[in-house]
Amino acid sequence: MLTLIGKYALPDGLPELRRIVAERHRLETGVATDPDRHVMITAGNMQGLNALFHVLIDPGDEIIMTDPGFASHTQQIRLCGGKPIHWKMHEEEGWSLDLDGLSELITVHTKAIVLVSPSNPTGKIFTETELRRLGEIAQDHDLFILLDDPYRHFTYENSEKYFNLASVSELVDRVAYLFTFSKAHAMSGWRLGYMIMPESLKRQVLKVHDATIICTPRISQVAGLAALTEQSDHLLEFEQILAERRELICERLDRVPHVFTYVKPEGAYYVFPKIVAEHDDSYKFALDLLESARVSVTPGSAFGPTGEHHVRMAYCVPKDMIDKAFDRIEKRFPV
Ligand SMILES: Cc1ncc(COP(=O)(O)O)c(C=O)c1O
Repeated sequence: MLTLIGKYALPDGLPELRRIVAERHRLETGVATDPDRHVMITAGNMQGLNALFHVLIDPGDEIIMTDPGFASHTQQIRLCGGKPIHWKMHEEEGWSLDLDGLSELITVHTKAIVLVSPSNPTGKIFTETELRRLGEIAQDHDLFILLDDPYRHFTYENSEKYFNLASVSELVDRVAYLFTFSKAHAMSGWRLGYMIMPESLKRQVLKVHDATIICTPRISQVAGLAALTEQSDHLLEFEQILAERRELICERLDRVPHVFTYVKPEGAYYVFPKIVAEHDDSYKFALDLLESARVSVTPGSAFGPTGEHHVRMAYCVPKDMIDKAFDRIEKRFPV
């Protein structure tokens, strides 16, 4: 293995890693997959999605994404000549899926729905009932479902709620499931992930992958092998640390109801408060917070039109940083 470490790997990844991934996917979902026909090692979910969008999108095609939803999906869809269609989520319903609203958005140009649960930016975990219904709608309209799943290990007391739509056997021909090592294994710099998808899709995705990056760096794949095979209880530790930070950020948000209201996040490590303090828009608000209080938040408008008048806060930072940031917010917005 060591003499090969600096060499190209097969375009779809190291066979031993794909084998382990297929087995892991079977254990997690009950769905058997073939490492050669269905599994592809990626340089992270962004790269995997980029290859998928290249395959699925012809100019003018539409991809439905939650609104608010992950900002980079919008950019990727546009880069591939597609049109992101914003599927509005309702804050007053805890950011859950609006399934009645979904059917109305589907047109002859719709190719796929992209989904993140637990969500970035809201932390929402969609229910099994909601997801199964979404699957039926996708089936009725012959759409692909792209499950971008970085945060499945960060579900706190809501772990029972997490449901993987890739476990529904009737949907395997239309689901692409993407897992990344970036978050659960703290390996964002290694650029490593995997995709499980229908064979027909893999054949096409391989061409894009080959034309863009040839293969995922072998050294990262070897690290991925270690990550999936070595015994480790780091996930429990990560989750415990993040759970404490989530409690802290919620406590601190509770102390500034004149600045923000919020829905408590169920998973991931984001909270998406609504700005109730006087402001023009989320961009100007975020800039003001940065300049006047040296606190960095992401303007909610980056996550879609429904994100306007919100900000995204990431609590993947130490507790004293959260405390300091909120001390400054309280100073900037005295009662
Ligand atoms: C929803 C979502 N998808 C993808 C990514 C990026 O994943 P990767 O590092 O595997 O490209 C992120 C990172 O924040 C994310 O939140």
